[in-house]
Amino acid sequence: MRIKPLGPTAILHLRFAAATAAVLAIAGGALLWDVRANEMHQAENTVAAHARYVEQSILRDELKPSDIATPVGGADRKRLDWLFNARVLNGGGLRVKLYRGSDGMVTYSNLHSLIGTTTDDPAELREVLAGRTVKDVSRLNAEGGAGPNVKSLEVYVPLQLRGQSRPRAVFELYQSYAPVASSIRAFVTPFALLLLLALAGLWIALFPLVQRMVRAIERDRAARRTAEEALEETSEQLRQSQKLEAIGRLAGGVAHDFNNLLLAINGYSEFLTASLSDEHQLRYAREIRAAGERAAALTQQLLAFSRRQVLQPRVLDLNDSVREIESMLRRLIGERIDVVLDLEPGLRTVEADPSQIGQVLLNLAVNARDAMDGSGTLTIRTRNDGDDALLEVSDTGGGIDEATQARIFEPFFTTKAVGQGTGLGLSTVYGIVAQSGGEVSVSSSPGHGATFRVRLPGTLLDVAPLELETAPRAGGAERVLVVDDEAIVRNLLEQMLVDLGYDVTVVPSALEATALEGAWDLLVADVVMPETDGVSLAQQLDARHVLFISGYDPGSLVSPNAAFLQKPFSHDDLAQAVRRLLDDPMRPSAPGAARSPAAATSSSGASAARR
Ligand SMILES: Nc1ncnc2c1ncn2[C@@H]1O[C@H](COP(=O)(O)OP(=O)(O)OP(=O)(O)O)[C@@H](O)[C@H]1O
Ligand SMILES: [Mg+2]
Repeated sequence: MRIKPLGPTAILHLRFAAATAAVLAIAGGALLWDVRANEMHQAENTVAAHARYVEQSILRDELKPSDIATPVGGADRKRLDWLFNARVLNGGGLRVKLYRGSDGMVTYSNLHSLIGTTTDDPAELREVLAGRTVKDVSRLNAEGGAGPNVKSLEVYVPLQLRGQSRPRAVFELYQSYAPVASSIRAFVTPFALLLLLALAGLWIALFPLVQRMVRAIERDRAARRTAEEALEETSEQLRQSQKLEAIGRLAGGVAHDFNNLLLAINGYSEFLTASLSDEHQLRYAREIRAAGERAAALTQQLLAFSRRQVLQPRVLDLNDSVREIESMLRRLIGERIDVVLDLEPGLRTVEADPSQIGQVLLNLAVNARDAMDGSGTLTIRTRNDGDDALLEVSDTGGGIDEATQARIFEPFFTTKAVGQGTGLGLSTVYGIVAQSGGEVSVSSSPGHGATFRVRLPGTLLDVAPLELETAPRAGGAERVLVVDDEAIVRNLLEQMLVDLGYDVTVVPSALEATALEGAWDLLVADVVMPETDGVSLAQQLDARHVLFISGYDPGSLVSPNAAFLQKPFSHDDLAQAVRRLLDDPMRPSAPGAARSPAAATSSSGASAARR
């Protein structure tokens, strides 16, 4: 039979039981020892008192000097036998002895065989002769003798006969120890019983407590373990997000500066392609334009990652976003991969930029395709989770190991061959989702595919109707003031706007702008400038409309008669944004309450072009 190991509760119970039993045993033992010592002391005193009484009231008068001078025999012995048996030993006494003081010889004992023997402790005898009473507990036959060798109390007292000037002999009396023992026993038995009862009571009262304590300790340990694990996980997440945050700032900064350069490169190459007639030159200009646009797309991805691109959020149903992109996805992914849609009806609406959500889906789907190496199943799933809407993209590919997962959202992190991937796909996803107030996570174990989970906060609003984009490039003749501290941007804007027929005035700073006379139909201004920002400049100037231009989402407050155009933009983008602003009857002509550009563009319908 196998013995089951003891559980923690049983072990604690045993320990507790042992400890309480030990404490009670020690306390009880000490008490018993004390009781026994007391009893014995008392008994000895009683025997001593008795012996002294016998010596003073009987022996002094009844004994003859010859009884303590030489060993007695014959008629004397008979007389003494009678004396001691009848008058001394009748109250529980066991034995008597009379010692001769000079040498310790026993002159009489009721056990006759002891008569004539000598004490083995003459020093003790001398002490007694000097007046001390000696008390002892020993065995009856410790100094020889016949009969049962029982435990006894023995007392020596000095013996002084009537007429003598000092004690000449020692009287020894042995009393039975049995009454002392039975008196101790009479105490011990109920006391031990009481102790056992107390112990049982203690256990009954405290075992449930011990049990509860064990459970509490175990719960506590488990809670601590979970807390530690959670902390570890959170700090890992924090490390990851701090890392991405730092890279994001760097990427955002780079993208911002690149945008100004690309605005010029793309803008001027656009002019070149429009104005050149020489075939060769035209081809070169087109190449520059194409490269510039690719660079602009890259910059855009970096901006997306750094969560600083201009989003045009509206209330949408993620199920619609999936369905809209479905046919394109199937084409992109190929026939050998099954696409399964598992869309929860009644999904919460979310507030996001639909084109960016399309971008997220596309990036996740393309990654899944690449991971599945030609065949497998791509599942796109939506569902409600608390107040959030979830969008999950799963594949049956090779999965992602821990090391890759830790870096997967970093820009330019790719495991693909040079030229196959830029490593910006998931960074873009990360940025778009984060900027939309959500979060994206990945779960995977190598060999078992991967699932990317996008969580967006749900709204209680209905899906906003889709706005139709109108895109004719049209100019005008209104008065436009351009304020930008970057010469390269300023000049390009001037050229583009003049090209569109507007009456353009260009100044490099807010200071010079405020020094100008007159009213403006439109102010085109950079958001961030050295002396002042575009928003406060717009408030100072008399302009009917304002078009802010920036490399990234200013995030600051913009008045409702303003729109926002993100760098880099094309000639067409600018033309449309300007025309929309100037033609919009909805926009009040006086600056009103400040609103965010996102809110302003999404609610007015006439939104600024993004790229
Ligand atoms: N579904 C997936 N299964 C396995 N690995 C994946 C999956 N999605 C992403 N990865 C890994 O993450 C890396 C980064 O993905 P990301 O989309 O950011 O860049 P990329 O696909 O390599 O390049 P691109 O910029 O073209 O998207 C990929 O190289 C790949 O190793
Ligand atoms: Mg990718």
